[in-house]
Amino acid sequence: MTYENIRFDKKEGIAIITIDRPSKLNALNSATIKELHNALKEADAAKSIKVIILTGSGEKAFVAGADISEFADFSVAQGERLAAEGQAKLFDFVAHLSTPVIAAVNGFALGGGLELAMSAHFRIASENAKMGLPEVSLGVIPGYGGTQRLPQLVGKGRAMEMIMTAGMIDAHQALQYGLVNHVTSLDELMEFTQKIAQKIMRNSSVAIAAAITAINAGYEDGENGFEEEITQFGKCFGTADFQEGTQAFLEKRKANFPGK
Ligand code: COA
Repeated sequence: MTYENIRFDKKEGIAIITIDRPSKLNALNSATIKELHNALKEADAAKSIKVIILTGSGEKAFVAGADISEFADFSVAQGERLAAEGQAKLFDFVAHLSTPVIAAVNGFALGGGLELAMSAHFRIASENAKMGLPEVSLGVIPGYGGTQRLPQLVGKGRAMEMIMTAGMIDAHQALQYGLVNHVTSLDELMEFTQKIAQKIMRNSSVAIAAAITAINAGYEDGENGFEEEITQFGKCFGTADFQEGTQAFLEKRKANFPGK
């Protein structure tokens, strides 16, 4: 598949998907959201891909938000559809992928950009990164999951303040808030992120997918995370990865997971 608004590189089991509209600070227009959906689907389906890294092109922005020029004249119904379709196609889609997704936040992550980073399974930021949900400064609220995922990650009070003030926090404050897991220099961001990806890749991809499902269940309405954990835990016992992982431990050797 060819892409115009993103770059899709595969390297040693890792897919690096780069949002590539630097002249618009990588703002998410509908074409970019569609391409991201397709690329993520392709990466998730590829047996050889064990981790997906999302990042932005250039040295200034991860993603500076949804493309404001596309929705400035929308009606109530169009606004609602924009949020619903975006959540289904990209934000919820990322959060529920069974392949781990890491956001390498290399600059501004604002509005839809921070929402995309928050949909990833975890985040690593470079020192120049700035994060915020400035939607109320435009007369709207976050519509791609931001009102739900920000409180989950930083707590209700901090999320309320960030959303109400429309302010930005820097990478170190984001680290202190637990919004990102690590902060690196911009030069080291991708290498550091790939090192974490390599650590993940040593483990059973089937067990990791089960863990993602169980963790997500605890954050979803009408689902019981503990029950889902029991189900996923049990399922693992029927996998070749479990056979190999336990056997390798007992034989005091490194596991070579078949990934099924
Ligand atoms: N949607 C559409 N275009 C965007 C954009 C967005 N969310 N964010 C940036 N751009 C465009 C700018 O319009 C500008 O395009 P132009 O050169 O054709 O005029 C280009 O990207 C560069 O942005 P600019 O504002 O000139 O850069 P800056 O360094 O002065 O400011 C920001 C950087 C991030 C502070 C500023 O771009 C900004 O506030 N962006 C909007 C953030 C936002 O509200 N996001 C939430 C959307 S719901």
